[in-house]
Amino acid sequence: MLNGRRILVGITGGIAAYKSAELVRLLIKSGADIRVVMTAGGLEFITPLTMQALSGNPVHTTLLDTDAEAGMGHIELAKWADLIVVAPASADFIARLSAGMASDLLTTLCLATEATVAIAPAMNQAMWKNSRTQRNIAALGQDANVCVWGPGNGAQACGDVGLGRMLEPEQLCSCIAQYFSDGPLCGKTVVITAGPTREAIDPVRYVSNHSSGKMGYALAVAAREAGASVELISGPVALPVPNGVKFTSVSSAVEMLDAADSAADQQCDIFIAAAAVADYRPEDVPRQKIKKNQEKMVVELIKNPDIVASIASRKNKPFTVGFAAETQNVVAYAEGKLQKKNLDMIVANDVSDQRIGFNSENNAVTVLWEGGSETFSLQSKSLLAGNIVELIVSNMGCMHEK
Ligand code: C5P
Repeated sequence: MLNGRRILVGITGGIAAYKSAELVRLLIKSGADIRVVMTAGGLEFITPLTMQALSGNPVHTTLLDTDAEAGMGHIELAKWADLIVVAPASADFIARLSAGMASDLLTTLCLATEATVAIAPAMNQAMWKNSRTQRNIAALGQDANVCVWGPGNGAQACGDVGLGRMLEPEQLCSCIAQYFSDGPLCGKTVVITAGPTREAIDPVRYVSNHSSGKMGYALAVAAREAGASVELISGPVALPVPNGVKFTSVSSAVEMLDAADSAADQQCDIFIAAAAVADYRPEDVPRQKIKKNQEKMVVELIKNPDIVASIASRKNKPFTVGFAAETQNVVAYAEGKLQKKNLDMIVANDVSDQRIGFNSENNAVTVLWEGGSETFSLQSKSLLAGNIVELIVSNMGCMHEK
């Protein structure tokens, strides 16, 4: 997939630098052509000899390089790269990049390049949380040719736990593969809702459902693999965030609607509503915990907004896909929802069947659209997600030809 891609890997000072060796090894295995640039900090953590042996090319460390043509190695390298990946990207490097500094070889060539600069932040969780780092990251987010991959959450070398771990080499490889993907959804933005919503009864209790989020998360991966830029809006689930996906965590249906609206206000070519949104929410939510001093309790519920119907009623509506989890008359009910919610496609499944649907690894569905349908027999949710994405691609094509 990465055959012949020219990737410049920048290594700055951080304990995660040892993982950059594995990253380079994986990229070389995928056919990429790799050059490595190390900062003075990076040299403290891993030797250039290791990186030279793995990349098969001399490692660059200094700005003024007498071996380079006209002594301007940074310009040559900046022009050579199809993509620059800085992994690990330390807080100091991020600050210098965001300020537009050219104080060493790596920052200078990031300034001189027209290629995308992808950074994989790696630092202590408190450093990552610090408002100065967050300001720098937000400023870089405004740059069209900078993207931020990670950081991940978990145990840190210093003993802390939290956000700040560099993404694993395999995860970074998949971000890079997606960056170069020329799949059928390349250039398209796909927004996906997933998981259940939680509707507060009081500050400690809620109403929810059994949705695991597996189908929505599998769709996010499938859409990303098809080359789309993906935003996943998820209710509370116990699944890891897929790599290379913009992730928005929500709790209630109202929060999910807000996130979906703001995603659709920006760019959304395809909207897939895989979330099991609670149909109702408690009308009055007391600020204090409800005491159990009554034998009976009545909670009045009011209807939640219909997120997918609201997106599908927009003037420039995206290609909109809904799900219908039913326990009887599956296809007939789904057909009704396709019309009523103004959807382009609906995926119907029978959740009364224990082998499929909620919480299961597998699913069997019938996909319906105006004038057509296709049934998929029992298969893994990830296989099914790929098939649904393929069907979306072919239906969008037909729509555009009309
Ligand atoms: O709950 P219902 O069967 O109507 O769900 C059908 C589709 O509508 C699903 O795609 C679900 O994600 C979406 N939906 C929604 N907002 C709601 C209820 C359902 O987006 N409040």
